[in-house]
Amino acid sequence: MNIYNPEEMQNFAIKVANKSKRGDIFCLEGELSSGKTFFVKSFANFFGIKKISSPTFSFINIYRNKKGLEIYHMDAYRIKSHNEANDVGFEDYFFSNGICFIEWASKIKYIIPDFATWIYFEKKLNFNEFFRRVKIITKNKS
Ligand SMILES: Nc1ncnc2c1ncn2[C@@H]1O[C@H](COP(=O)(O)OP(=O)(O)OP(=O)(O)O)[C@@H](O)[C@H]1O
Ligand SMILES: [Mg+2]
Repeated sequence: MNIYNPEEMQNFAIKVANKSKRGDIFCLEGELSSGKTFFVKSFANFFGIKKISSPTFSFINIYRNKKGLEIYHMDAYRIKSHNEANDVGFEDYFFSNGICFIEWASKIKYIIPDFATWIYFEKKLNFNEFFRRVKIITKNKS
């Protein structure tokens, strides 16, 4: 799907948010500044969570809205080994009652559950600075 500006990315995030439910996992892939954190911000804003910051250095940021919905925002960019992933404890959140987002999830692919939804972000520098392409791969859930 082609996205021509941040507002369209926000609308995409809201569409995904509308279909989401507690326990969902969203794996976000794509180069630096392709819009992964922007997507999570838009998604979380929709549920009334306003102050989202990038978890690049904290690995995991946890948010909770007034209705008790928890959002776990993770970033595996700096993870280099299975041991490091274990130390951070990403897996502790995968079977929770909240919604998980994992930026650079491919770096910890071996611990991502099968039911996760993958979203790929592409930034086409040859087009213009606001253009992005997104692809969403949803597993059929029983
Ligand atoms: N159509 C668009 N969709 C999303 N972000 C856009 C768009 N056009 C411009 N931007 C800008 O691109 C930047 C995307 O940054 P963001 O932090 O979301 O990237 P990221 O994929 O999380 O990168 P990183 O891997 O470094 O964490 C933001 O500054 C945002 O304002
Ligand atoms: Mg980011």
